[in-house]
Amino acid sequence: MIDPSYISEILIPSDTLQARIAELGAEISRDYLGQDLLLLAVLKGSALFLSDLMRQITIPHAIDFMAISSYGSGQESSGVVRILKDLDEPIEGRSVLIVEDIVDTGRTLDYLTRMLRTRQPASLRICTLLNKPSRREVAVPMDYIGFDISDRFVFGYGLDYNQLYRNLPYIAVLAPRFYVRE
Ligand code: IMP
Ligand code: MG
Repeated sequence: MIDPSYISEILIPSDTLQARIAELGAEISRDYLGQDLLLLAVLKGSALFLSDLMRQITIPHAIDFMAISSYGSGQESSGVVRILKDLDEPIEGRSVLIVEDIVDTGRTLDYLTRMLRTRQPASLRICTLLNKPSRREVAVPMDYIGFDISDRFVFGYGLDYNQLYRNLPYIAVLAPRFYVRE
């Protein structure tokens, strides 16, 4: 399925991911009890995370998707974000929880949260599966974090390497010889 030479290490195995996602789901279910919760997933990387997380959330909630592309390609994000697909529904007055795969420099989420705040949700919080704190350039308050990881390029479980391998059930570290930082 994948040439093992791409992988230097399996950083987070599937059962560890699922156990942490169950904890996050329980926490979110407690925190948002009685609220009009909308999970806002940012395509494409958070698709697998959303699908597992929502099955661990025991309170009623809706989902919606945004697709964005950050100018500057490859393995780095520039923070200048273009909206490719906007939300289907207004978020005014709703409790919005952004579901992200990974926060790296923070630029993408900084842009996104500024833009979404102008639409006046009742609350706007962030749930990210992975966080690379050592790479942060812009402070973004994160309310739910699955795992803090060190500064290495990871893929699998929704995250791609050159658009492939999102289907891996674990988070893997890309072998250094394939890693190009622009
Ligand atoms: P930020 O704006 O630098 O926080 O970028 C976040 C985006 O960069 C993520 O949504 C991913 O698309 C991408 N990204 C950052 N680090 C990685 C990684 O290690 N693997 C895969 N994608 C990454
Ligand atoms: Mg993303």
